[in-house]
Amino acid sequence: MTAQRACGVGDVAVSSAVRVELDGVAIAIVKDSAGDIHAIGDTCTHGEISLSEGFVEDDAIECWAHGSQFELRTGKPKNLPAYEPVPVFPVTIDGDDVLVDVQNPVKL
Ligand code: FES
Repeated sequence: MTAQRACGVGDVAVSSAVRVELDGVAIAIVKDSAGDIHAIGDTCTHGEISLSEGFVEDDAIECWAHGSQFELRTGKPKNLPAYEPVPVFPVTIDGDDVLVDVQNPVKL
């Protein structure tokens, strides 16, 4: 595991996202409505849109451009027009730090 610090736990509000870059990979750190933190690929698979600029609803994030929602736990799109998943990365909370292993995406 090559987890590295992405941000602080307090840097992400409930039902919102922040964009970070780790090893050149754009990642959205998302806190869902239950307060759980997820790390997913930040680029929508339908276009070059940053998902962290979208809307967090319960356990999904919605791309602002055309409305595809991606499940935060799986990266899978819930609706068209996107049909390819975004990658999901393992998250570890270490004190106040959010650690993400960008080299080992979750295999689903
Ligand atoms: S660019 Fe994201 S749904 Fe179209």
